[in-house]
Amino acid sequence: MQNWTEKQIPDQHGRRAVVTGANSGVGRVTALELARHGSAVVLAVRNVAAGAEAAAAIRREVPGAEVEVRALDLASLASIRAFAGSLDGNLDLLVNNAGVSLTGRRPPPTVDGFDLQMGTNALGPYALTGLLLDRLAGGTQPRVVTVSSIVHRWRRLDLGDLMSERSYSGPRAYARSKLVATILGVELDRRLRATGSPVISVLAHPGMTNTNLSARALASRNALLRSVNRLSPLFVSPAREGARPQLCAATAAGVRGGQFFGPRGFQEIRGPVTEVRASASARDPENGRRMWAEAARLTGVAYL
Ligand SMILES: NC(=O)c1ccc[n+]([C@@H]2O[C@H](COP(=O)([O-])OP(=O)(O)OC[C@H]3O[C@@H](n4cnc5c(N)ncnc54)[C@H](OP(=O)(O)O)[C@@H]3O)[C@@H](O)[C@H]2O)c1
Repeated sequence: MQNWTEKQIPDQHGRRAVVTGANSGVGRVTALELARHGSAVVLAVRNVAAGAEAAAAIRREVPGAEVEVRALDLASLASIRAFAGSLDGNLDLLVNNAGVSLTGRRPPPTVDGFDLQMGTNALGPYALTGLLLDRLAGGTQPRVVTVSSIVHRWRRLDLGDLMSERSYSGPRAYARSKLVATILGVELDRRLRATGSPVISVLAHPGMTNTNLSARALASRNALLRSVNRLSPLFVSPAREGARPQLCAATAAGVRGGQFFGPRGFQEIRGPVTEVRASASARDPENGRRMWAEAARLTGVAYL
């Protein structure tokens, strides 16, 4: 993976990808680069107008790009089911990229009663993956990419407080949701291997990247976050760079299930793509087993 960049993406003609949250940030770059290398790309977005604008921008940059926009709200199991049910044909790649990062007061729960960050960042992608798994199994060298974060390392799994009911802080609930997403991505790989599935599960994180997600933290009431974000242009990466680990996970030749890619620099904040390690809590098979069962119970989507 030495100095891997999007220029090394293998030919993607004949492949079909779903990228969630593809209208903005690293998801948008991911969709653009997949399309540039020939993949058909479904932009799965909660705001269809924003998705159409992103699709038009991709077509301007890549004339003839095969991109389509479909509505998907990961904070709603009904929307996830409708999205999955509306797709036909096989799928070669699912990039579970969409996410929210909140800093203010506790937001209202999702329509399914989940903490908003847990629902959007972890439980929604778990359900989506399960509902698309048969389509992926029919694909060619199929992959599921989970977009994690360095902050998954801030928390240990606490199954008794997944929805942050005991006490709430936006950044802690975000870190908890990213830990759960990472546990589920690692466990997905264990289960796919155990059943001999052709699908592999790979993880990636962008480090710290300048996107809408980080920009929203500028408005935070948390003084530390505000000052970090004021300084951010000095050390965070542009979205083009932040998207590289997930593009590498999604397309590089020789990637194996369970691998995790991120930036190589100080604290994995930015830098060339390298293989990184998930936290011990994220890799623990017992956490994987218990979290998988809980995700199936909470979402009603049981698979593998
Ligand atoms: N930026 C960083 O430094 C950083 C660091 C670590 C991990 N990440 C992860 O990278 C991924 C991409 O984030 P980004 O930095 O590119 O931020 P971004 O520019 O805010 O993009 C996030 C995308 O997720 C979408 N989204 C949010 N809630 C959704 C929902 N309920 N249903 C469907 N889509 C939803 C957003 O849609 P709208 O445009 O409609 O809001 C947007 O398209 C996220 O998983 C994030 O946690 C980012």
